[in-house]
Amino acid sequence: MFFAFEGIDGVGKSTQISGIESYLRERTGKEIVVLREPGGTELGERVRGVVLDPDLGPLDASTEVFLFMAARSHLVATRIRPALDEGRVVLCDRFLWSSVVYQGIVGGLGVEAVVEMGRVAIAGTLPTRTFLLDLPVDEAASRKVQRGKTDRIESKGDVFQERLREGFLQLADQFPDAITVIDASGTEDEVQARLRREVGQCL
Ligand code: TYD
Repeated sequence: MFFAFEGIDGVGKSTQISGIESYLRERTGKEIVVLREPGGTELGERVRGVVLDPDLGPLDASTEVFLFMAARSHLVATRIRPALDEGRVVLCDRFLWSSVVYQGIVGGLGVEAVVEMGRVAIAGTLPTRTFLLDLPVDEAASRKVQRGKTDRIESKGDVFQERLREGFLQLADQFPDAITVIDASGTEDEVQARLRREVGQCL
């Protein structure tokens, strides 16, 4: 089982993923592997350092997408595929849909072009299901202020975040068999309960 979690910056993905990690460990008795993108491997963390570096200045969407895809391809081959083959459950904080939205829809490369590149990068290893944590941009922004860090991509502002949110919702509409939208408003516990209900249905 392989679950991915998506959403704009500040929706609370990492907190919710830890909750799901405990839930799945108890429910399935299996080992749970939690990964993030970009990251999860030595190469991925190095790519992350480059692509999110606020000092780097603007990069065009195609440069960004190749960097993210390179990190993803390595993550799938060296961490995700082996974990799944050993019967572990994989949770990934962001995956291919992030590239489709950030670089494909908002960055202008187009959904199909990015999905096509993704096909090469992930070589058939698709998530069992992706959960999209959805929250209005102003609420996500105030959660982000509390967290207090901004990377190169996050620093693009609220209009950018609004387009991302719409992009994710558009994909969820277009690919209902792949993406489930979770209302991320309310308390952490409320969101976790909603998420557990949906994850539970996939077991
Ligand atoms: P991260 O700190 O993980 O953001 P968050 O905590 O909000 O998930 O930084 C990842 C950033 O990289 C985030 O702004 C989204 C962006 N990104 C892309 O633009 N394309 C991608 O393919 C991926 C995986 C991430």
